[in-house]
Amino acid sequence: EKGGHEYFMLKEIAEQPQAIADTLLGRLTDSGEIMLDEVRLSDQDLRDVDKVFIVACGTAYHSGLVAKYAIEHWTRIPCEVELASEFRYRDPVLDRSTLVVAISQSGETMDTLMALRHAKAQKARVLAICNTNGSTIPRESDAVLYTHGGPEIAVASTKAFLTQLVACYLIGLHLAQVRGNLYADEAGAIVEQLLKVPDKIRELLAGIDPVRQLARDLKAAPTVLFIGRHVGYPVALEGALKLKELAYMHAEGFAAGELKHGPIALIDQGTPVVCVVPSPAGRGMLHDKIVSNIQEVRARGARTIVIAEEGDTAVLPYADHVIYVPRTPTLLAPLMTTIPLQVFACEIAAARGHDVDQPRNLAKSVTVE
Ligand code: F6R
Repeated sequence: EKGGHEYFMLKEIAEQPQAIADTLLGRLTDSGEIMLDEVRLSDQDLRDVDKVFIVACGTAYHSGLVAKYAIEHWTRIPCEVELASEFRYRDPVLDRSTLVVAISQSGETMDTLMALRHAKAQKARVLAICNTNGSTIPRESDAVLYTHGGPEIAVASTKAFLTQLVACYLIGLHLAQVRGNLYADEAGAIVEQLLKVPDKIRELLAGIDPVRQLARDLKAAPTVLFIGRHVGYPVALEGALKLKELAYMHAEGFAAGELKHGPIALIDQGTPVVCVVPSPAGRGMLHDKIVSNIQEVRARGARTIVIAEEGDTAVLPYADHVIYVPRTPTLLAPLMTTIPLQVFACEIAAARGHDVDQPRNLAKSVTVE
């Protein structure tokens, strides 16, 4: 049943290329048009949207944080992301031109369900991104885009997260096309890159053994810190969450720019810091900025574990360990950079003797508030 893998989690990590391919299947035309007819929101509805709110919990929330960068960049519609448990109780400003996107693997998470009910009561339109056919969240939403990840058995979410990202990219591209923000050739270029992701992940997974070794070496670390910028920031949060829930270790993710505002004081001799580095080919100064953050933490004694794009040699002088991932455009990079962090957490947990698939105190679907 685990298909030759030691744990369901490893099996599900290995299934990510297929899960992504399945989530893209039938939703793209050759000319790069996104076809989301199943979403049941008319083009006019989508043109009327003037604000997007993404609500979710845990890992699904992290996918929403990534989506914000893509949706705002492609559509120019303001997009906010909020923990469902907070959204519900703070009287958010919503109306019929607000699109609320509720992201949930199980479709049964109580906090997310309550957030969507609240949004509907305020007349917002609710679109669910969900992995479970016929579950409560999609049934109560105005529209749904299913992720085709297949059943996820391990408590820690892996393939569901990557397919949530893909669904968010599709929604962002679709909104942009319908509203005329993005030209067909630009969208086509992004779609072309999305279609290449499954093979790139296969390539990445084929070379993943050094990450497992490194994880075993670090199993006794008292804390592990994760830093990133832009879409690498939610990836850092996700890497830390995986480590907490599976290895029961203290771990924290930070926006790299925030280090000097406090967290850098945590760094001691040998503290492992996982640094998620964007493509050097990306926009702006992002890459150089994080390279200097890596330099800063290393100067204070950190043991730096750098996740960077193939061919990025600028990180080498400051990296104690480098994990290269295949090249992909900046906004899509979380589809690559998350994977070593999943494997890392799984392997540390196993090395510490924990049940990787059934971590203590956690349930696969959280149906209480
Ligand atoms: C972490 C994890 C949880 C879920 C969260 C939301 O690995 O699995 O953080 O992401 O409980 O669950 P869903 O997506 O089912 O609403």
